[in-house]
Amino acid sequence: MNDYDFSGKTVLVTGGSMGIGEAFARRLAALGAHLVLVARGEERLAALAAELAPTPVDTIACDLSEPGAARRVFEAATRDGRTVDVLVNNAGFAAYGPFDQVALDVHRGQIDVNVGALVELTHLFLPQLERRQGGVIHVASTAGFQPVPYMAVYGATKAFVLSFSEALWAEYRPRGVRVLALCPGATDTPFFARAGEAAAFGTKARAEDVVTLGLRAFRKNRASVIHGAGNRLTAMLSRLVTREVTAKISARLMAPKARLGTTKPAGALQRG
Ligand SMILES: NC(=O)c1ccc[n+]([C@@H]2O[C@H](COP(=O)([O-])OP(=O)(O)OC[C@H]3O[C@@H](n4cnc5c(N)ncnc54)[C@H](OP(=O)(O)O)[C@@H]3O)[C@@H](O)[C@H]2O)c1
Repeated sequence: MNDYDFSGKTVLVTGGSMGIGEAFARRLAALGAHLVLVARGEERLAALAAELAPTPVDTIACDLSEPGAARRVFEAATRDGRTVDVLVNNAGFAAYGPFDQVALDVHRGQIDVNVGALVELTHLFLPQLERRQGGVIHVASTAGFQPVPYMAVYGATKAFVLSFSEALWAEYRPRGVRVLALCPGATDTPFFARAGEAAAFGTKARAEDVVTLGLRAFRKNRASVIHGAGNRLTAMLSRLVTREVTAKISARLMAPKARLGTTKPAGALQRG
């Protein structure tokens, strides 16, 4: 299981209309994959599909925070006997701000999209991914390696994704299914327009480089991979001290007053 040829394979990318998902779509199209792209914004999906022609691209406009959304995506993607070889669970968002100042529906939305839809889609698609000997790429985050004060729910969703992916990797390895948690650090995408620039940390990576690493790790059947040497070091160091120390350092770095002399936390303002 040391290589994987995407040519002629069907890959479903959630959040495939912009940012890291768009970079996945562009790279996979160049590798000869057929695409199914899922996001809420229909126009952006259609524009990207047109741009990627002659690559076959199906688009599914769907809000993954809604109950039953994963089932609707599964049914749309598999109508007329179609199958998916690789699932890229990439859609996700963050809200930055003191816990009590972020609206409850925004907290809940992060759990529904980043975790709920991801688990449901994985459960629905796994039987065919196994038949096709394909796999799943979960876009987790370096936020999954330690608690993230002021983005507590987001960090917890990504810790879930990391743990879930590594467990499935071990379960499904003998069955010929790859499962990867791709963990980017701050990456230059529209993500921060929603999360707030205060959520950004360090130099932002290019989405294309994150995707290159993810596809290489998927081919090698890695369980998880962290983008960036600095991020790998931070994740390692956080294991060498107590969890309280990590949380305290993280709180100091993430506290609104420490962030950029910043703007208001976007998460505290937005809804849904
Ligand atoms: N950028 C970073 O610094 C960074 C770092 C670590 C991890 N990540 C993770 O990487 C993944 C992609 O992030 P990104 O930076 O590419 O974000 P992005 O630029 O904001 O793109 C997010 C994508 O997800 C879609 N999406 C968002 N909410 C959705 C919903 N409710 N239902 C369906 N689709 C939805 C968006 O399209 P619509 O808005 O049209 O729905 C868009 O296509 C996320 O899981 C994020 O947590 C990002």
